[in-house]
Amino acid sequence: MTTPPHTRTWDWYPGSIPANSDIHGTAYIETTFSFTQYRSRLARGFYAGRGASAYLGTMFDVGERGHVSLGNFALVHGARIICDLEVTIGDYSLISWNVVIMDTYRVPANGGERRAVLERVSRLEERLLSSGGNPRAVTIGRNVWIGFDACILPGVVIGEGAVVGAKSVVASDVEPYTVVAGNPARIVRHISVTAAAIALNSEGSHVS
Ligand SMILES: CC(C)(COP(=O)(O)OP(=O)(O)OC[C@H]1O[C@@H](n2cnc3c(N)ncnc32)[C@H](O)[C@@H]1OP(=O)(O)O)[C@@H](O)C(=O)NCCC(=O)NCCS
Repeated sequence: MTTPPHTRTWDWYPGSIPANSDIHGTAYIETTFSFTQYRSRLARGFYAGRGASAYLGTMFDVGERGHVSLGNFALVHGARIICDLEVTIGDYSLISWNVVIMDTYRVPANGGERRAVLERVSRLEERLLSSGGNPRAVTIGRNVWIGFDACILPGVVIGEGAVVGAKSVVASDVEPYTVVAGNPARIVRHISVTAAAIALNSEGSHVS
């Protein structure tokens, strides 16, 4: 486990990096405001690999049993990650503005039960919708690109090299090397792996 500083010296928010996080020394968290809704109590609730980054507007809304992982050189630019179990973002994946990735709906679909939850929240000191329901892990493979305003729903697995179009709602798994778009997201084309120009980057990693 590495230690701070992982933030810019001019971080405007007087917060701190959670003690139960494992953040590589070359990773970059633009502001600790991203952790104001982080409540994981696991031994390790957050991981950021080599060169990973989370920019302004990114929110890690993580429940007590949640774990978020950003792979090497993964870049998250202003997404909301709602995690009560496991959200994994693979190496070299790029998550654009206002994307929502959720492994949990937090509230029951049943109207009566949801009403009870809202009444309970109104009596809480923190007034937070805590973990609830049945979280299902979300896995985003390596080298995936998710366009702005897209929404990734619980249980979804996105294969390596896939692209998700802007404003798409991804409700089911995405095959590797496909472009999906729309609501619900459907394949709009396949990406040829050769066209994806498989190459070795300067650090010897396999990048497509
Ligand atoms: C997904 C995307 C990359 C696809 O680009 P592309 O491969 O050039 O695909 P095309 O524009 O040729 O579109 C292919 C088909 O998918 C449809 N489509 C593309 N993007 C779509 C979207 N976001 N939502 C719904 N349909 C979409 C097109 O209308 C087209 O349909 P058609 O074949 O019936 O005419 C692009 O449309 C996109 O959404 N980019 C997001 C960019 C972004 O978020 N940038 C932020 C900076 S990180």
